[in-house]
Amino acid sequence: MKPVIVVHGGAGRIFKEREEGCRAGTVRAALQGYGVLKRGGSAVDAVEEAVQSMEDDPHFNAGCGSVLNEKGEVEMDAIIMDGKNLDSGAVSAVKCIANPVKLARLVMEKTKHMLLTDQGAHLFARAMGIPEIPGEKLVTERSRERWRKNLEPDFNPEDFQKDLGTVGAVAIDSEGNVACATSTGGLSNKLIGRVGDTPCIGSGGYADNHSGATSTTGHGESIMKVVLARLILYHMEQESCSFGAVQCNLL
Ligand code: GLY
Repeated sequence: MKPVIVVHGGAGRIFKEREEGCRAGTVRAALQGYGVLKRGGSAVDAVEEAVQSMEDDPHFNAGCGSVLNEKGEVEMDAIIMDGKNLDSGAVSAVKCIANPVKLARLVMEKTKHMLLTDQGAHLFARAMGIPEIPGEKLVTERSRERWRKNLEPDFNPEDFQKDLGTVGAVAIDSEGNVACATSTGGLSNKLIGRVGDTPCIGSGGYADNHSGATSTTGHGESIMKVVLARLILYHMEQESCSFGAVQCNLL
């Protein structure tokens, strides 16, 4: 089967001055993920690689570039899912990890669980040898500015690009296995401990070899209302699309 990868760099309006960087970042991520597939890597390997690339790119709201919570700190969520066996792993509210998607994959492969949060996720990361970095290293000038502006009483969010730049990828490998991965900093000035759709299986992503793979981006609370990623696959099943890859932007 011919391998395919689709990536997204999030919903939301992209201002002119950021267009170039966002486009370059998604192209780079797609090429890196596709390179993995071409070398015979699995769909899971490919989506991890693509999402990691966007987590490292400050243009996106994931990893370095994540928006800040009400306290001015980064809190990130991520998920990865293997459509071959429906295994998945996720992390939520992680603060000092450069690549939450890598940690999510370790949750999937090295634990009996599907989701680790906050302190437990950090303890697990340490046990897995994933280095902790100062949270400040993930904060960009732009996310700090957005956070500050949100605190101004007369701030109009329309004056600032929406911070819904969650990143994600779906892929089919040469053996016909599908996978998805999604990663985000969530919503700007969110309450401490707010967990959005991204790490919730069926909302932030879903992958099943029998129907396809989805990675969602948009307003998490809206996505969770309808468990959007799984709902999309349900409709694909009704349409008899036996293999496919979809991304969904819900604003
Ligand atoms: N879709 C990302 C979030 O709302 O957290």
